[in-house]
Amino acid sequence: MKSGRFITFEGIDGAGKSTHIEAVAERLRGRGVEVVCTREPGGTELAERLRELVLHSAMDALTEALLVFAARRDHIVQVIAPALSRGASVLCDRFTDATFAYQGGGRGFDLDVLVRLEQWVQQGLQPDLTLWFDLPAGIAAVRRAAARAPDRFEQQDEAFFERVSAGYSARARSDPARFECIDALQPQARVAAQIAAVLQRRGW
Ligand code: TYD
Repeated sequence: MKSGRFITFEGIDGAGKSTHIEAVAERLRGRGVEVVCTREPGGTELAERLRELVLHSAMDALTEALLVFAARRDHIVQVIAPALSRGASVLCDRFTDATFAYQGGGRGFDLDVLVRLEQWVQQGLQPDLTLWFDLPAGIAAVRRAAARAPDRFEQQDEAFFERVSAGYSARARSDPARFECIDALQPQARVAAQIAAVLQRRGW
């Protein structure tokens, strides 16, 4: 069975990952690879509707976790799995590590339940590579302050983002072969060079 590469981009709000996704897409396209750029929560019509709810409506932590996994299920079935099986590479702005970091770390939601949901929803599907943009929570807060109107997550205090970072760090330790830690404190050109070096090392 043909399979493309599944690359995810993670980090706390303000870490600056979004600007680098297009550069990775261009690099892969330059090698003749079909690339699908997508995001979570979202990536399908249904999942984008769920995203609106998750980002803007008050709800308890279990509802939040179920909605992000419901959105993920639709996204995998409609977009990610078909793309990978036709040999396309999928670049996804956030995936399940964000659920472990935000709902698990940030909100303090039960990690065992998240592990069960991950198994049900993904049936073994995992990214081949996760670029984790690591940035101290205090600096990310300054960068966010310059951005547009905050959603329910971006409104959280620095302590919340410290817990989100700790959540990412724990996920990275549990799967070091998949994770690459990108130092998002560096100037943008240095970040881009670090990412290019990671892809080069993998022969991508
Ligand atoms: P983000 O991807 O940062 O989009 P934008 O750049 O448009 O703000 O926003 C998505 C938000 O959703 C982000 O704050 C993290 C949150 N989120 C979760 O809480 N759990 C999840 O599983 C995912 C995928 C995202």
